[in-house]
Amino acid sequence: MKIAIGCDHAGVDCKNELVKYLVNQGFEVKDFGTNTTESCDYPDIAFPVAKAVCFNECDRGILICGTGVGIGICANKVNGIRCALCNDAFVAELSRKHNNANMISLGARVIDVEKMKQIVSVFLSTQFEGGRHQKRVDKITLIENSQKTRN
Ligand code: RB5
Repeated sequence: MKIAIGCDHAGVDCKNELVKYLVNQGFEVKDFGTNTTESCDYPDIAFPVAKAVCFNECDRGILICGTGVGIGICANKVNGIRCALCNDAFVAELSRKHNNANMISLGARVIDVEKMKQIVSVFLSTQFEGGRHQKRVDKITLIENSQKTRN
């Protein structure tokens, strides 16, 4: 599985730790930065990471900012992206089982990197349940498609 990952300045230390962790676990990782603690704008990172998932260059995406909120909002503006803010493992599990989330956002000012590793592990190893949830996810796609005609 190929993973796209990115963060803003608030998440850089956690992102670098997660990259090492994921590579050790055998994942292929594409790192979109940022790579310094110099202040940057999370949309500039979220958009290329989300596009990598949207265009199937990567299978899943991981984003980190201070709270996970801003960077996740940006990712969800990209067609086909279902980015779940998961600062806990239970939500990460259900975001896969019920929502078929293809991206996760995490808050470096909310949880520590060890918790992030647990959450990401659950996120990457849990399958979508389909069934009644498929119909709901399909409705998200219908909403996306209806918006496209207005752009
Ligand atoms: C940056 O200071 C902070 O606003 C950002 O990391 C994030 O928390 C926004 O949602």
